[in-house]
Amino acid sequence: MDRPLALVGFMGSGKSTVGKRLAQRLGWYFCDLDDRIVALAGLEIPVIFQRGGEAEFRAFEREALAAALAEAETRRKMVVACGGGTFAQPFNRMQIQQFCKTIFLDVPCEELLLRCAQMTQRPLFRDAESFLALYQQRLPAYRQAEISVDGSGQDPEAVVERILPLLFGTAAQPWLVKKSKN
Ligand code: S3P
Repeated sequence: MDRPLALVGFMGSGKSTVGKRLAQRLGWYFCDLDDRIVALAGLEIPVIFQRGGEAEFRAFEREALAAALAEAETRRKMVVACGGGTFAQPFNRMQIQQFCKTIFLDVPCEELLLRCAQMTQRPLFRDAESFLALYQQRLPAYRQAEISVDGSGQDPEAVVERILPLLFGTAAQPWLVKKSKN
């Protein structure tokens, strides 16, 4: 299996944390799309939103995604952690599905809310009501991913353990040799 992997899901679902661990376990390259956007814009995400609104952010996101997918096509062994809204945009979704095997990190909305309430730096997190509405609106898009994985719980390593058999089956376990000691 050397198709690039894309992790999708709502904000707070653990795409970056789980994606990084998954890439480590597989010995694959990791790409965080939000980091790419920041590098491309030369601005932190809240500043992009403040200056140009969501439309400007989505334009940077599209450009960063195109570059990341071009890289993924060459590298093959690459895990891409998308932003929460990336896969909800139909054009992005089509592009990602074309190049990557897609994994939806499925976490109950109440848990997402608890996680995000403790974090700053998320311009689209305002209050519980709008958070829930956005989640409901995006859920049908996330469900179009090829694989859905239970992403709940505190331990990202446990989520990686749930993902690996879905990618490779339980018979062959090439990742076991790569398991880190920590
Ligand atoms: C967004 C989620 C964020 C980031 C930006 C927009 C969204 O990524 O891309 O703030 O539209 O849900 P995370 O899901 O990593 O928080």
